[in-house]
Amino acid sequence: MGFRAVRISEKVWWVGAIDWSLKEFHGYTTHSGTTYNAYLIEGENPVLIDTVKAPFKDEMYARISSVIGSPEKIRTIISNHAEPDHSGALPDVIREIQPEKVYASVAGVRILNDQFGIGDKLTAVKTGDSIEIGNGMTLSFVETKMLHWPDSMICYLSGEKILFTQDGFGMHLATEKLFADENPMDQMLQEMKTYYANILLLYSNQVSKLLDSIPSLNLDIAMIAPDHGPIWRGDLLTFPLEKYREWSNQKPERRAVICYDTMWGATDKMARSIADGIRSTGAAVEVFNMHNRSRSDVATAMLKAGALVIGSPTLNNMAFPSLMDTLCYLRGLRPKNLKGAAFGSFGWSGEAVAQITEQLNAMNCETIEPLKLKFASSKEDFEACFEYGVKIGESIKDL
Ligand code: FEO
Repeated sequence: MGFRAVRISEKVWWVGAIDWSLKEFHGYTTHSGTTYNAYLIEGENPVLIDTVKAPFKDEMYARISSVIGSPEKIRTIISNHAEPDHSGALPDVIREIQPEKVYASVAGVRILNDQFGIGDKLTAVKTGDSIEIGNGMTLSFVETKMLHWPDSMICYLSGEKILFTQDGFGMHLATEKLFADENPMDQMLQEMKTYYANILLLYSNQVSKLLDSIPSLNLDIAMIAPDHGPIWRGDLLTFPLEKYREWSNQKPERRAVICYDTMWGATDKMARSIADGIRSTGAAVEVFNMHNRSRSDVATAMLKAGALVIGSPTLNNMAFPSLMDTLCYLRGLRPKNLKGAAFGSFGWSGEAVAQITEQLNAMNCETIEPLKLKFASSKEDFEACFEYGVKIGESIKDL
């Protein structure tokens, strides 16, 4: 296959795959595809760090072959993360190239075996362990449990000064420009933020602890090489660390997110009137009609928002399915420091608003009295919505 590796330092090559077509990653809409980054360390004992999603194995092999002639020369594999977008190719790779050692964390050994039954090729490493890989280079391991799987770990390559961080500091973005500084910064920020909001938000405590611990690791880092999206270096080296610190703090801003669906347009008009009321208080507001927006876009907007406002009509005594889908997804991400509000138009029973409020309470939102209107249609109805927006805006005025 016609693929080439890309050199990222004197001894290290990017040998991953670009998935230009990916649209969905376990519930997260990936508007711009992704990359599955794998890295080859050249030397007398070539080392492969992570693999790729199973269908991309041949692309990875072709890139490896462009450097060392044949993947069979690889003697050591590091599995920093057992999720199948990085380990899916691993069982075949182990069978086909027969490496001497495959290193993973203790949980990684267990999970790789649970998923693939790999067996005795796997060797567990813990925080503080390191291996000599020849040419004076050492790989040192740091477990990063629950960032974002139990097995997750990162590793540091001395000499080349590269920190391989698997999902951490990554983003779902298909690009042939391998370094962050070669891509537009607004895109780097937005895609990294989207990734954090949808994959890591619920592990923000662990992110904070990891950031706290980095100085004590005494690592001289020249590059941060994640398993998705571009590599951080130079002036941008600290950028992902600073952003992760900011996002993990979850300090809310004076901004509300309205998320709604509508049957015959009444709840839509309510949403837009509420948005105007919020805006009139000086707070920012973003509005998502779930008929045509993705749950993961709402999750991204929710990062550091002060209020989450959900509007639903009642359908067959239930909230609208698109809202319950979104709430299920958002609840799993365990946002903190959010005010919650529910609203909706109804015809005769109107259970949706109470059901939504129950979900907002379950998310530990501090809820505001909901607004429920029968066949919302009059000027007075929408004035009430505007005032409800003012009430929401006022509730976050001190942020
Ligand atoms: Fe990129 Fe958690 O896998």
